[in-house]
Amino acid sequence: MKLQALTGAFGAEVEGLNLGQGVNARDMQLIAEALAEKSVLVFRDQDLDIGQFEDLATSMGEFGETPFITPVEGHPNVLKVLREADEEGPLFGSGWHSDWSFQAQPPSSTLLYGVDIPDVGGDTVFTSQYLAYETLSDSMKSIVNDLKGIHSAERSYGPKGTFGRPDPKASMDINGDASATVHQLHPLVRTHPVSGRKALFVNEVYTVGVEGLAPAESDYLLSFLFEHSKQIGFTCRVRWARGTLTIWDNRTTQHFAINDYAGSRREMYRITLAGEQPS
Ligand code: SIN
Repeated sequence: MKLQALTGAFGAEVEGLNLGQGVNARDMQLIAEALAEKSVLVFRDQDLDIGQFEDLATSMGEFGETPFITPVEGHPNVLKVLREADEEGPLFGSGWHSDWSFQAQPPSSTLLYGVDIPDVGGDTVFTSQYLAYETLSDSMKSIVNDLKGIHSAERSYGPKGTFGRPDPKASMDINGDASATVHQLHPLVRTHPVSGRKALFVNEVYTVGVEGLAPAESDYLLSFLFEHSKQIGFTCRVRWARGTLTIWDNRTTQHFAINDYAGSRREMYRITLAGEQPS
């Protein structure tokens, strides 16, 4: 197995593995260490059916919980991230976020596999929250180190949220409900359990406030952290092809699905792996 850096910032393509044939314990350990350091790993030309995709995921960890979205029939832990060529309306994943950060134990990582990919467009962009944290001044670090962010699914899946009401024209069956209004507190800065590095843990979609700050203070701090996190030097971009599998670390990245492929169909399988309470 060989790593090719995706950018000077982070991310890597992993060569030399056929994931459908199973991964031995040593390579699995190398993948876990590479993910903890590189945050985004891309495996090209993989040929996985849905069962092999599930097997790969369970060899890396336990399934996470998948709220609000109906999974693939018979595969309760696999989501089909699908957009038909003529589909309109909000695109799933098209806002800066870390998957399900509103959960008490948000997923450690996500596996996304390309099944049907537009000829051009539909890339996913990632930003490194290690770099976002490490480039803050010591004074700003000392402010954010002791604060907790308030995370909620309300803007996406609450009754008035982007996906709050069933949309009969949408290909994904997304059903928000009032449970999305629950708040979850997580430190603004978390330490990765494998690498020991600190990462900023905020995102525009799910972080709605900062505990203990007045609303104006919280708004100013979050809008600074959101802008700071997504500067171009902290990003990498994955261009998909059929058979591309990308694994990203939700503890140390945000991501954004680009909505630039109107007229083309895009289908992916997605599994999230269980994580720990951020600390
Ligand atoms: C997601 O946010 O998990 C979906 C990303 C994508 O479709 O590129």
